[in-house]
Amino acid sequence: MCGIIGYTGFREARAVLLDGLKRLDYRGYDSAGIAVIGTTLRVYKDVGEIANIEKQIPALKGTTGIGHTRWATHGGVTKENAHPQLSCDKKIAIVHNGIIENYQKLKETLIKKGHKFVSQTDTEVIAHLIDEVYDGNIEEAVFAAVAKLKGSYAIVVVSENEPEKIIGVRKESPLVIGVGDNENFLASDIPAFLKYTNRVMFLDDGEFCVITKNAIRILNAQKKPVHKKEEVINWDVKDAEKSGFPHFMLKEIYDQPETIHQVLRGRLSEIEQTITFSEDVEKLLASKFSAIHIVACGTSYYASLVGKYFIEQLTDIPVEVALASEYRYYGSRNPSVLVIAVTQSGETADTIAVLKDAKNSGMRTLVITNVIGSTATRIADSYILTQSGPEIGVAATKTFTAQIITLLLLSLKSAVLQDTLGSAEMYTYIIHLKELPRYVRDVLQRTDEIKAMAEHLKDATSAFYIGRGVDYPIALEGALKLKEISYIHAEGFAAGELKHGPFALLTKDTPVIAVIAQEATYDKMIANIGEIKARGSPVIAVAEDKDTEIEKHADYVLRFPCESKSLSCVVIAVLLQLLAYHTANLRHCSIDKPRNLAKSVTVE
Ligand code: M6R
Repeated sequence: MCGIIGYTGFREARAVLLDGLKRLDYRGYDSAGIAVIGTTLRVYKDVGEIANIEKQIPALKGTTGIGHTRWATHGGVTKENAHPQLSCDKKIAIVHNGIIENYQKLKETLIKKGHKFVSQTDTEVIAHLIDEVYDGNIEEAVFAAVAKLKGSYAIVVVSENEPEKIIGVRKESPLVIGVGDNENFLASDIPAFLKYTNRVMFLDDGEFCVITKNAIRILNAQKKPVHKKEEVINWDVKDAEKSGFPHFMLKEIYDQPETIHQVLRGRLSEIEQTITFSEDVEKLLASKFSAIHIVACGTSYYASLVGKYFIEQLTDIPVEVALASEYRYYGSRNPSVLVIAVTQSGETADTIAVLKDAKNSGMRTLVITNVIGSTATRIADSYILTQSGPEIGVAATKTFTAQIITLLLLSLKSAVLQDTLGSAEMYTYIIHLKELPRYVRDVLQRTDEIKAMAEHLKDATSAFYIGRGVDYPIALEGALKLKEISYIHAEGFAAGELKHGPFALLTKDTPVIAVIAQEATYDKMIANIGEIKARGSPVIAVAEDKDTEIEKHADYVLRFPCESKSLSCVVIAVLLQLLAYHTANLRHCSIDKPRNLAKSVTVE
């Protein structure tokens, strides 16, 4: 949660910081602010989104500064609680992402020493701690202050007395250095500075960096210099822009045919009929383990449930899927279990906590993530990148389908290693994977039908999604998409479960979206649809183009094309994303930045 940025170089810092914050506001958008060092340090901040705050900020001279966009944790959404936070003399400014657990105690001590606090944030304590020990060397002061902190943090600090210098430090919250020519950047995420540079250095936990326009120094917690390799990111700046779409979410939905190509790139060989991962991932998959436990949150959790179907269908490996926030306290510590964490951002606090515990227990760990250099990739034994490019909309879309396909590739690879998959079956999967972008493209062209269905949904106060088998997690994800962006209460159920309780909630005003794509359970789904209609609820079936029966049973039908039963879930997911999008759009909702949510959930 929260996006932070720092800049020092030759450009006007105001423009660089504001632009960076706009690209980071998916991380939080309660309030925002910047501090720029010119002849003095000047701070502008307020509640609301950066685009509104920008109007209040005058032209500022200064080529060094820091900025922040907030998702409130400690202290309400007020101007005082917005960052940057300042020292008593207002000469030191800091921005922070994370939580300082011992801030209350530190605050009491600092108040006794005469420090005056103006906010309710945990962050302000850091500014005063630095101030307390500052004697002309900001680097030393930050070291001394940070040694007193308990909790998680990415912090960026500037001092009016030492202009053209930025200090950054991270522990359990992301912070990445953007390496430029005669300029350098610090940010929570790469899109913040991608417009200026694609050369990056990732800080590890406990590391500090001291940045000027011509130099980057990295030190560990013992103040020993650390040599970091510069990495080049192959994301295109256009990936982090709307490219003419009204919302990032819509753009990212439409990115999906290309995303699928990217996920398969370098992994799938049609000619040799093989699937390739990096050497360490393949070694890990070939090793002996008693079970796989997949841990994740939110949309990544639903992708993991799809992954369970794939792995268990294709191999003899037992799979459990758990919410990271639960597994952390109740999960296995058995070293013979392989833990796979699925996380788009690679920064979700609950998922990271599981990874750390699993490693400490001697369990082997693998991460499926979209973000190279993220905390998860640094903790796990191995990682697989979903190669989807940056996803800016808070609602996960292209990264969900990329996670599903990655999990399918992993299942196929495991099946080959275990000898549980014949070459004919493998060939069929490969052909279907290759054809998948075409089917997704086809769904993307069905806007009129989907918009018409959104008209039926837009006034509902509650909607149910049902499915069986692999369509069940797709129903869960469909419901999550609708609720998070349209604010319509939506729940997903395994279709057979409705009669065990949820039926009590059905009324003629409760649309039920029934995903009906699995042959084995087709008749059972038809029976479920009948039961729902008998209670008077309208049924929107999501069915294959070739299904000639469904019209007799459902009130409305949304059609999808797909030859493959296993991969139809990807095509349906895209269709349900569009249904949620158009419904939210008709309701005039804040689609890219839904209320109370942030893209990267770095608090537990
Ligand atoms: O970055 P992660 O995949 O770990 O994030 C997990 C969830 O916070 C995330 O999927 C969330 O549920 C999405 N906003 C849903 O669209």
